Amino acid sequence: HTSDGNKSGDVYRDYNDDRSAKAQDTLYTASNGTPMPHPYEAQRAGESGPLLLQDFHLIDLISHFDRERIPERVVHAKGGGAHGYYQTTDPLDDLCMSDIFQAGKKCPISVRFSTVGGESGSHDCARDPRGFSVKFRTDEGNWDVVANNTPVFFLRDAAKFPHFIHTQKRDPATHLTHADDSTMFWDYLSQNPESVHQVMILMGDRGIPDGWRKMHGYYGHTLKLVNKKGDWVYGQMHFKSKQGTGFITQADSANYSPDYAQKDMYNAIEKGDFPGWDVCWQIMTPKEAEDLWEKEKINIFDLTHVWPHKQFPLRKVGEFFLNENVKNYFAEIEQIAFNPAHMPPGIEPSADPVLQSRLFSYPDTHRHRIGVNYQQLPVNSSQTPYRTANFQRDGSMAFYNQGSRPAYLSSIQPIQFRERSVNLDKVHGHFIGEAVSFLSEIRPEDFKAPRALWENVWDEDARGRFIENVSGHMSTCTEQEIIKRQIAIFREVSDDIATRLEKATGTKGYEGIKNMRFNGTHNGMASDDSV
Ligand code: HEM
Repeated sequence: HTSDGNKSGDVYRDYNDDRSAKAQDTLYTASNGTPMPHPYEAQRAGESGPLLLQDFHLIDLISHFDRERIPERVVHAKGGGAHGYYQTTDPLDDLCMSDIFQAGKKCPISVRFSTVGGESGSHDCARDPRGFSVKFRTDEGNWDVVANNTPVFFLRDAAKFPHFIHTQKRDPATHLTHADDSTMFWDYLSQNPESVHQVMILMGDRGIPDGWRKMHGYYGHTLKLVNKKGDWVYGQMHFKSKQGTGFITQADSANYSPDYAQKDMYNAIEKGDFPGWDVCWQIMTPKEAEDLWEKEKINIFDLTHVWPHKQFPLRKVGEFFLNENVKNYFAEIEQIAFNPAHMPPGIEPSADPVLQSRLFSYPDTHRHRIGVNYQQLPVNSSQTPYRTANFQRDGSMAFYNQGSRPAYLSSIQPIQFRERSVNLDKVHGHFIGEAVSFLSEIRPEDFKAPRALWENVWDEDARGRFIENVSGHMSTCTEQEIIKRQIAIFREVSDDIATRLEKATGTKGYEGIKNMRFNGTHNGMASDDSV
């Protein structure tokens, strides 16, 4: 068992001490443990004759090498992470019964940061959202918060996700990414105007954060917090960087090394400069959710919108710090599996359809990427004060197969159950705004927050960089029609953006979206029904 967990207690429950053994204290063996005199001594028939099939050691070596790679993550393939701890500073027990939010609670965590579209060897300074995943190893099992560094997303209909992601990846024929040919990138976005808020953030300064330490994290989706009485509220989770925020300009990004963010965080932790984040919630009652829909036409299950901060201020509940670098990248980061469906009692998913789809997608991809027993890997296994048990048995690589305990619900050797503490009928109620009906409809409200960004939040320099970033990226888009459409979408945000982009790209865009038809997306702002 580990002897080198971080300061908040051991990170790993079932790790053997191999994680920190020194090379000089080990003996070279084949994979079955038989000592071997030297790794290069292949067996041959005579001094220069062919190799022998009986040479298990050589076959052992090469056949394992042949199988070293597992599939990279289908998105968020490039990343890095570290371990640390979370502590509750301001209990949330009035609103949430989760053990972790009670006074004095603390738990080990593991975090992984990532870019989204690039492959596992791609550049850390790509213009892309950043993933920000946290595995809270709570006394009630692992809670995975699989967040991004932006509060909104490109879509609100999960069916669009594979389409959108394919446009961020390589073209099937040319094998080029959007760095060399941005045609399909803008083709998708100009067909799906609900993406414009996220596109503004992506093409603005926050599109290339200065490493991972200087960015915030956002759950984005609405969650439900349930207290001990079974009463519930909606919640939005935020991680606020204690380091503040920083960004890198497009021009400057060429001066950074491909693994800049990894190096920056690793070195900071090695030096004892532990990065930290405040954990905060915005809270909303079901009634307030209905009012928000009535008055502002903001649906809290729509991932392209944010909750207004003035009306729903941040409430700090705790903080976390990263104070331990990983010892083995593959074991502790490549094989770590974050799943939004991992939630402790007291935290429930909302009806956000993108969240609902993600609850299925992550464990599904983990079974493919890592294998059916991926939860047994040390970095994924939970550490709870009770011994966990269930009836999942066997399968590939079942190294923790729950011993001789009955593999069915036995009356002879019963296992224990924790009593349900709240009335589930109460918990399953939710606000019934029109989330589903307008999933694929564009409405004037979709342009409000991006407009506020342009008009109220950004200064003139930031606006200038945005125009440069968009027009620069569009310079490899081969279809004028696509640029015209995208300019029309930006015109709905602000005429100023459209005019400046027309100048920068040399392309006259359409006059807004009223005459435009979108592929699979209803134009709720069309001038007549035939569009
Ligand atoms: C990774 C699916 C939307 C954040 C992944 C992975 C899949 C996936 C399959 C790879 C997981 C792995 O191999 O371990 C989806 C689908 C989405 C969606 C189907 C929408 C329909 C989002 C959103 C966010 C997000 C909205 C943030 C709010 C992340 C992060 C990772 C990830 C941070 C990397 C996890 C890690 O570090 O291992 N997603 N995703 N995704 N996704 Fe999503």
